[in-house]
Amino acid sequence: MGKKVLFSGIQPTGELHIGNYLGAIKNWVKIQSDYDSIFCVVDLHAQTIEYDQKEMPRRVQKTATVLLACGLDPERCTLFKQSYIPGHSELMWRLTTITPIGDLERMTQYKDKAQQHRDNINAGLFTYPVLMAADIMLYKAEVVPVGDDQVQHLELTREIVRRFNHRFGEVFPEPKPLLSTAPRIRGLDGKAKMSKSLNNAIGLTESPDSIRKKLASAFTDPARLRRSDPGHPEVCNIFTLHGQFSPPARCAEIAGACTAGMLGCVDCKREFADRLIAELEPIQARAAELRAKPERVQEILREGGRRCRARSERTIADVNRAMGL
Ligand code: TYM
Repeated sequence: MGKKVLFSGIQPTGELHIGNYLGAIKNWVKIQSDYDSIFCVVDLHAQTIEYDQKEMPRRVQKTATVLLACGLDPERCTLFKQSYIPGHSELMWRLTTITPIGDLERMTQYKDKAQQHRDNINAGLFTYPVLMAADIMLYKAEVVPVGDDQVQHLELTREIVRRFNHRFGEVFPEPKPLLSTAPRIRGLDGKAKMSKSLNNAIGLTESPDSIRKKLASAFTDPARLRRSDPGHPEVCNIFTLHGQFSPPARCAEIAGACTAGMLGCVDCKREFADRLIAELEPIQARAAELRAKPERVQEILREGGRRCRARSERTIADVNRAMGL
């Protein structure tokens, strides 16, 4: 039996953060060989928010560079740019005709983004999840590694697959979300999801100085005012983050010392900063190497695109046949 198809996408924000890394990318790198893995820089999705068209190519390039620096390996997976393949938009249109408006109105990300961008509530923002379904279905993917915030969109994709197969015949498998061990990383405010747009993120290519500065003012345990106050690691975002970078035995020590009022937030943050910076160092070094070879990154995206194009055309042919087009 061949490997199952895995698909996931990421927006070309240009500034990937440790939420993206822990919620998705780190897991992608780990499991890329276990599946027939396809990763996509979703520039069409990024169009739903006001953007500068002159900046978009640079954002795509930077995102692809950091993904490769994190360890996506073009020998073991396919990496490409969404707009390179016409099939994403083609399949999306076909799927919009079987997606009830009511289902899209329920999407929490749509409601949040419509709140945040009141002056630009475009139809693309509304149909965004249908484009996601098309991304996944175009390659008949079964496994979709994402963070928690994308699970509702995945449920909708499954719904669309079921509706399509029921109405037009079995063409698509039902894809399942695959969550990492850190599916929802909070931002430096300790409350909201870490997100570039909320300005509460630590970037993967940030300098050690900048990381230390941001962490210094990061939110910890609100009940703790002095070092000697007993801390509550279970509510502290920095402690949660330690869980992703520090060995379990050390995390247990930190929890004990924090609860006993023996370890202060300043020292705890300093230790976390050291570990985070150490993990990011090789990634940043590889990113610097790749930045010096921009044509290499372009070539990887083009080669990935070529491979995906042939596959996507086969699915569009299946869909057209099934839908009587
Ligand atoms: P995007 O670009 O917002 O995020 C990329 C991945 O990072 C995860 N993520 C997080 N995980 C944990 N904590 C956080 N604070 C955090 N912030 C982001 C996201 O869950 C995601 O897995 N619509 C998608 C991109 C997409 C896609 C797809 C994904 C387009 N088509 C098809 C899967 C399948 C998005 O905007 O992700």
